[in-house]
Amino acid sequence: MIGEGACDNPFLARSVVNISGMSFGAISRPAIQALSRGAGEAGCWMDTGEGGLSPYHLEGNCDLIMQVGTARYGLRNPDGSFAPEKAQEIARFVKAFEIKLSQGAKPGKGGVLPGAKVTAEIARIRGIPEGEDSISPNRHPDIANIDQLLDRICNLRDLTGRPVGVKTALGDESFMTLLCEAVLRRGAQDAPDFLTIDGGEGGTGAAPQTLMDHMSLPIAEALPMAVDALRDSGLKDRVRVIASGKLVTPARAAWALCTGADFVHSARGFMFAIGCIQAMRCHTNTCPTGVATHNRRLQRGLVVEDKAARVVNYVRSLNREIDMIAHSCGCRHARELGRRHVRIVETAGRSIPLDVLHPGA
Ligand SMILES: Cc1cc2nc3c(=O)[nH]c(=O)nc-3n(C[C@H](O)[C@H](O)[C@H](O)COP(=O)(O)O)c2cc1C
Repeated sequence: MIGEGACDNPFLARSVVNISGMSFGAISRPAIQALSRGAGEAGCWMDTGEGGLSPYHLEGNCDLIMQVGTARYGLRNPDGSFAPEKAQEIARFVKAFEIKLSQGAKPGKGGVLPGAKVTAEIARIRGIPEGEDSISPNRHPDIANIDQLLDRICNLRDLTGRPVGVKTALGDESFMTLLCEAVLRRGAQDAPDFLTIDGGEGGTGAAPQTLMDHMSLPIAEALPMAVDALRDSGLKDRVRVIASGKLVTPARAAWALCTGADFVHSARGFMFAIGCIQAMRCHTNTCPTGVATHNRRLQRGLVVEDKAARVVNYVRSLNREIDMIAHSCGCRHARELGRRHVRIVETAGRSIPLDVLHPGA
């Protein structure tokens, strides 16, 4: 359960593995249709990403998490300000809201959907002009500190009756420390209902190579940091944790559960399921597989029924094999997995801050 006791409509999430945020805009209409139908049949949720809610998300009757990005696509007035009545309208169709602060592939950077990909339909759904670059700022204009973040969470939860979570990448312990301190000061009712922790290895439709390669902590460091902060503050039962960042195989997903995640998000795992060949052209509108293009001719390569079945297979196989790993450890269910079940082969890859390694400079 997500948001139990904290909102009018808590969300009973049925699958450990779920579809991470990928916006309609970054990926195509048939890609969204295949993911929605696959998620509906497999019983997992689909996160909309920051591009708003389209009719195609609704086709599969799946559980949906509506992401609130910095540009608030789908939830904005023409001047870009937050539109509460749109949030209330959308709450009829989605199970929860996720306020996105950052993602691992490009922390501290906003986003651009190039004008070539801003079709009339995408412009209408996002609430922006057609054919012009669609720019997400690097931060929420009305969230400058943790208290304003918690105010926004409480406001959206009251407005919609749905659980509200936060997605972020981490650079060090400070965000979690500030968050837990503020929640303990204000009371657990003001906490986010879930935290989506995205590792630096997370994917994206478009980001500067330097940020993709070098910025934000990998999930192997960020996840234990987030879980430990919640546990130490007595908030682990209140706040569900979703982990993402190359968690595409059962073993990686099981590692996340052992570390303390409640759910796993995958973006590129599902892109592969619907035919992505990593042509690396998401930003050019010429994706040869139809996954990340709005060119109708190229989209014909993505047959929705066929790919929806692959999404179902992927979710079912991952969940089944995570359970198999759990059984092999002597657990009845994957949720019984704990840190004692994992051994990590240590490498030189573990990082510590430079000013701890070389203090005083
Ligand atoms: C094509 C594509 C589009 C994405 N769009 C969004 C988005 O709109 N909002 C967001 O928070 N993350 C977005 N992401 C990032 C994923 O939600 C997730 O954080 C990251 O990809 C996880 O890593 P994975 O691909 O290894 O699973 C996108 C990723 C991809 C590959």
